[in-house]
Formats: sequence, structure tokens, C-alpha cells
Amino acid sequence: MNDRVSPFSDLAGRVVIVTGAAAGIGLSISNAFAEQGCQLVLLDVNEASLKETAKRLEKSGTHVITVTGSVGEPETARLTCAEAVRQYGRIDVLVNNAGVSSVHPSLELPLQEWKRVLDINLTGVFLCAQEAARKMIPAGGGVIVNIASIYGLVAAPNRAAYCATKAAVAMLTKVLAIEWAQDSLRVNAIAPGYVKTGLIIDLAEQKKIDLESLKKRTPQGRLATPEEIAQMSIFLASDISSHITGQVIGVDGGWTAYGYI
Ligand SMILES: NC(=O)c1ccc[n+]([C@@H]2O[C@H](COP(=O)([O-])OP(=O)(O)OC[C@H]3O[C@@H](n4cnc5c(N)ncnc54)[C@H](O)[C@@H]3O)[C@@H](O)[C@H]2O)c1
Repeated sequence: MNDRVSPFSDLAGRVVIVTGAAAGIGLSISNAFAEQGCQLVLLDVNEASLKETAKRLEKSGTHVITVTGSVGEPETARLTCAEAVRQYGRIDVLVNNAGVSSVHPSLELPLQEWKRVLDINLTGVFLCAQEAARKMIPAGGGVIVNIASIYGLVAAPNRAAYCATKAAVAMLTKVLAIEWAQDSLRVNAIAPGYVKTGLIIDLAEQKKIDLESLKKRTPQGRLATPEEIAQMSIFLASDISSHITGQVIGVDGGWTAYGYI
């Protein structure tokens, strides 16, 4: 039996909202907060997978509220935060994870696609942060963790909308962090490199990326696991990181440090 005390034991009982919780990184983040004894509010567009996730977590004793909807819809953030406060009385942590990829040569990128990616990857992050902060600040503060990307820090071809939104999320993180620092509300972002999730597998199947060359390009020689991103979200949510705010932290196996051929 492992009788070590978790270094993140302050998280037990905290109310955590995770967007895009039904698959990939969001699912791992939800599992990781459940393991710390948190109470969850899980939001996703995919109702069937969301319900399945909730059912599994509830079986292991976690309290879960689900909200089906798109973060790209302005009403979703309001509903999600209102539901968290109605059922749990407060919000302690928001993880803005929901996001979509988009790969198009810029000359051919349709305006509708540009707007779709901005709505989900950027406006959705802002609206959820704004709505959660409106509840957190009067209650004494909290933590927001945004999932950005290495592609908000370095450029990749054919990803104008994706890179622009992730760079904007990195800057938004800093702006909100300094605005809310005196309200005991910390805001940080994680910038993952390539992580093995449905998003990446879909792109590989469509031959838009080549997993073997991406592994070679990564100094560690492999993709991240979703759990490695989840662990950083636990660290950033915990009081262990109490003086860290306004940071964009790479979890990328060395990708952005690499400057050789
Ligand atoms: N996988 C990677 O390599 C990688 C790398 C860097 C950053 N990211 C970022 O991590 C986040 C999660 O990516 P992933 O790889 O787990 O993706 P994924 O496609 O595997 O899972 C995304 C989840 O979000 C949900 N979702 C999609 N659009 C939504 C919306 N409008 N509203 C609510 N939920 C929605 C999906 O239903 C799904 O459950 C995204 O923000 C992505 O940009 C991923």
C-alpha cells in the first residue's frame, strides 16, 4: 500500500471545472483532479462520452456535474459556472482545455473556419475565465489554467488560425493574471508539445502530420502522454505553485528549446 501523503493534498474537496473533459487531455485532467479528491464540473460538446466519463468517475466516489455545450457559445460559460455555484456553492479551479485543431494553407483558409477556431480556442477561453472569475473573486480567489500550445510560442505552416488563437491565449493568460493577482486569483497556461490524443491521431490519419518525424523533432524522442499535461495542471492548481501567475509553461519534451537543424 502506498501511504505517501500527496504533495497536492490541499486540492481535496476543491470545485474544479474542466472544459473539453470527455476525451484526450481534458479527460486525463478530469481523472487527475478526481484522484486528488476534487468535486468536478465537466463540460463538453460530446454528450455521450461526457456521460460515460461522469458515470465512471462517480463509481469511484467523485461528485460530478456535467454540462453539454460548446465553449464557443456565449451562454455555455454562464450556465456552467452558475451550475457549479448552484450545486457546490463555489468555484476553486477552472481548466480551459477545450480546443480544436485546424490545418489549412492560409491562402485557402475560409473565413467561416477562421471564426470557428477563434470562437472555440480564444473567445471560449475568455468567456469561461470571465464568468468563473466573477464567481471566484468575490469568494476569495482561485486558479485558472489555460491549455495553450507550443504553437502559440513558435510557428507552424498551415495553422494560421490555430497558432493565432494559442498565441492569444498565452497573452490573455498574462493580462488576466496581472489584473486579478491582487484578488488571489492566479492564471497560468500550459503549452504542450505534441500529445497522443484523438486530435493528433485524426491529423495523422488525414496525413496532415507524420508522427515519426514529430517524434524525431522532439529532443526527448517521443510525444507527451495526456497524463503528463494533467500533472502540470494539478501542480498549477495546487497551493504548491502559490507564487506562480502569468506564466506559460511548456510541457514539450524540449521542442521549443531546440534550435538545431
Ligand atoms: N494533442 C496535442 O498534441 C495538443 C498539443 C498542444 C495543445 N493541445 C490543446 O489541448 C487541448 C485538448 O486537446 P486534445 O488533444 O485533448 O483534443 P481532443 O480532440 O482529443 O479532445 C478535445 C475534447 O474537447 C471537446 N471539445 C471540442 N470542441 C469543443 C467545444 N467547442 N466545447 C466544448 N468541448 C469541446 C471534444 O469533444 C473532446 O472531448 C486543446 O486546447 C488543444 O489545442 C493539444
